[in-house]
Amino acid sequence: MFDAWKRLSAKGCANLVSERRRNHMSLVSWSTGLSTGVPMIDEHHARLIGLINRLHSAMKIGTSKSDIPWMLDELVDYTRYGFSEEEKLMAAHDYPRLVEHCEQHQQFAARLGDFQSALAAGDLGLPLKVLTFLREWLLTHIRRDDRAFGPYVTSGR
Ligand SMILES: [Fe+2]
Repeated sequence: MFDAWKRLSAKGCANLVSERRRNHMSLVSWSTGLSTGVPMIDEHHARLIGLINRLHSAMKIGTSKSDIPWMLDELVDYTRYGFSEEEKLMAAHDYPRLVEHCEQHQQFAARLGDFQSALAAGDLGLPLKVLTFLREWLLTHIRRDDRAFGPYVTSGR
């Protein structure tokens, strides 16, 4: 019994260590400070952060340059999907800042489109610029704008 607990405990600790290493190597880490209080939006953000970190890891380990565009495409597609779902939920709750919020999403999506075009045109230094932009924009947007919406859902407004 004790041996089984020791094995499980050691395995649990090993998992914690590898998770800690993964987080340490990540460009962006999820934290409760990013929670909007709306599970669907939080799941989208967590997935988006995962895609940003995947792109970052791929660049760090020197993944084939041909892999970067499709990873960026997937990230852009998921961003658009997440924005669309978020906007539908805001509309369903008559969120008063919906128009302003949609405009922010559209500006961000347009910027990502520019990055995709530049990458297709051969700007190989671009992924690092994209990652920096994504991280800064996303963290600011979640903390300042998406979190402002959370109370509208949780209070049933
Ligand atoms: Fe948003």
